[in-house]
Amino acid sequence: MRTLLIMISGRGSNMEKILQSKPRVDKIVVLSNNKNAMGVEIARNYGCKVIIVDRKGFETREDFDKELLRVVKQETPTLIALAGFMHILNSQFVNEFPQRIINIHPSLLPKYKGLNTHKRVLEDKTTVHGCTVHFVNENLDDGELIAQIVIDVHPKDTPEILEKRVLKQEHILYPRVIKGLLEEEYYS
Ligand code: GRF
Repeated sequence: MRTLLIMISGRGSNMEKILQSKPRVDKIVVLSNNKNAMGVEIARNYGCKVIIVDRKGFETREDFDKELLRVVKQETPTLIALAGFMHILNSQFVNEFPQRIINIHPSLLPKYKGLNTHKRVLEDKTTVHGCTVHFVNENLDDGELIAQIVIDVHPKDTPEILEKRVLKQEHILYPRVIKGLLEEEYYS
């Protein structure tokens, strides 16, 4: 059984694009670490199995990480796609799924790791921007790069406009990369 596990914390627009692309797996499971995430409702509407491991229900980060690993292992995922998942996975988690965890980030990594990428790009007067899909390790927005889409920064761009322009590209890139990876022998 091939399972795609998508991990979210919020809006879930990348998750929805992945679902719409109908990746060739037997099962898609969506896990959220926030029970109120908009994406949870969307995933349910698509008929996905939804797992909630709400960070607020755990006293310590260690307890949360332990439960996260336990429930994810139970799903034996072929591929894990982080889509706006706002939690850094610990090394135990990452080592459990070598070359099987990917993330999308709204910048041309290794530039602009972390939050507020669009604002920082504009402040630096950087002329190109974009999005990256990369393998995940235990460091924030780190790990081997898989694919990027590059866009020009326009003189009239604001952080909000750039966010929209980059997100549009994320929605193209992420389903495409997932489809490509699932066709690789490693994931069969
Ligand atoms: C996206 O910009 C993604 O690159 C970043 O978090 C955002 C999630 O948006 N990691 P959404 O929840 O997929 O709409």
